[in-house]
Amino acid sequence: MNVFGVDIGGSGIKGAPVDLNRGDLTQERHKVLTPQPATPDDVAGCVAEVVGHFGWSGSVGVTFPGVVTDSTVRTAANVDKAWIGVDAGRLLRDRLGGLPVTVLNDADAAGIAEMTFGAGRDRKGTVILLTLGTGIGSALFVDGTLVPNTELGHLELKGHDAEKRASSKAREDEELSWEHWATRRLRKYLAHVEMLFSPELFIIGGGVSRKADKFLPLIEGIRAEIVPAQLQNNAGIVGAAMAATATTVATAAKP
Ligand code: BGC
Repeated sequence: MNVFGVDIGGSGIKGAPVDLNRGDLTQERHKVLTPQPATPDDVAGCVAEVVGHFGWSGSVGVTFPGVVTDSTVRTAANVDKAWIGVDAGRLLRDRLGGLPVTVLNDADAAGIAEMTFGAGRDRKGTVILLTLGTGIGSALFVDGTLVPNTELGHLELKGHDAEKRASSKAREDEELSWEHWATRRLRKYLAHVEMLFSPELFIIGGGVSRKADKFLPLIEGIRAEIVPAQLQNNAGIVGAAMAATATTVATAAKP
């Protein structure tokens, strides 16, 4: 079965049809640049362009970089604040000519994909996926079941929002060495999350996970196993498509 997945990110909006049996894209994904400011109407137009590129006419799953409950956006830390309170499912369904749309948090989508097809496959107990990008996204699983919208990127670390200190963007903006970022920022963040949740496994996602060899070996003193995500760039698209068929995590627009 194929479903369409779209990943709304801070820099790009990308999507493709997904083969749900293989957890992979059936065609090369199409990407458009995220409009700045990323207002609801402009982003919806981009999503319509991505979906239209494939002439798609079935279900669509869409990720959003903020809390989403009942298809409505509740927070927008790194996108235009005009999103807060918007029924994103309804907005996108209208722009897509009435196609069924499911919207969920971006890290939750990546986590769903990793738990089924990637680094979290067959893993029981408490598993936490963290996406380290512009912000920090989190997806918490207990015996494979998602606890949605956990927002662990906004824990307080040394009086700061954790994502402002330990995200990949913080490393780039502050021109931190891999060593400094890994040992002084990321390690402390992981230790804090571990203190709160005692996970068996951390899965590290986001673009920086491609460079995991530069920083994961430097992180010491964490009990949990720490592994890089496997689906990398496509995890959001695959997870969005999976969510569009799963009522347990779906936050689909009401008819
Ligand atoms: C948002 C999360 C999101 C993460 C990654 C955070 O700032 O609050 O909802 O998952 O960024 O995009």
